[in-house]
Amino acid sequence: MRALEKFSSVCVSGSGSPARPLTLALPKGRLFDRALAYFAQRGLSVRFQDRELAAQDERGLLEVFIVKNSDLPVYVSHGIAGLGVCGTDVLCEAGGVFFELFDFPFGGTRMCLAAREDFDCDAGLRRLTVATKFPVFTRGYFHRRGIPVEIIKLNGSVELAPVLGLAPCIVDLVETGSTLKANRLGVVEELENIKVKLIANPAYYKVHYEAVDAFVAFLKESS
Ligand code: PRP
Repeated sequence: MRALEKFSSVCVSGSGSPARPLTLALPKGRLFDRALAYFAQRGLSVRFQDRELAAQDERGLLEVFIVKNSDLPVYVSHGIAGLGVCGTDVLCEAGGVFFELFDFPFGGTRMCLAAREDFDCDAGLRRLTVATKFPVFTRGYFHRRGIPVEIIKLNGSVELAPVLGLAPCIVDLVETGSTLKANRLGVVEELENIKVKLIANPAYYKVHYEAVDAFVAFLKESS
């Protein structure tokens, strides 16, 4: 809790009135609940009313916006949210320049090449056709390995592609492996570990570095 008090004291101006809170974008979905639980374990609680997309903690230190995963880098690069909680998979697709300030100890996944169990690796890896939500990552990864790759871009339910014959392989995130298993697919190769990071807009960091550093110290403190 000491780090929270320090963060609070940096954010509150001399007159005792709250300064403007730090702005933080959180992605909808799995990371959202985990990030809020992580803050709450350290004493900072942000509650959203039903369907509300922006809310502050009770001390007014942090203003949190709920955004679609793939939109998060857009909000941070425009400085609408100074900070964001974002997977390296999304960062890779978005491009752009962000400061990476902290690795969260949750939400890590694996980016994998997966296929049906009867996939012929020797023939299939000479020239790949891959369905994926992650074309930038996939193109970069296989080009670095000198493997020609044709990419079919999808936006979700990627595991259907090999099942229905759209593409023999997919590149996708695997967390528990249950989606692959349920669709009778298997991992051909693990390509990269994906981490969840606190990112900052560089200009925002330069202006608010004291408060942002205090927030990072708060995140680093064990609960
Ligand atoms: C992600 C990912 C896989 C699944 C992996 O999809 O793209 O489909 O989760 O998780 P598992 O290994 O625990 O089964 P998401 O749930 O985000 O839905 P989407 O396919 O609609 O993008």
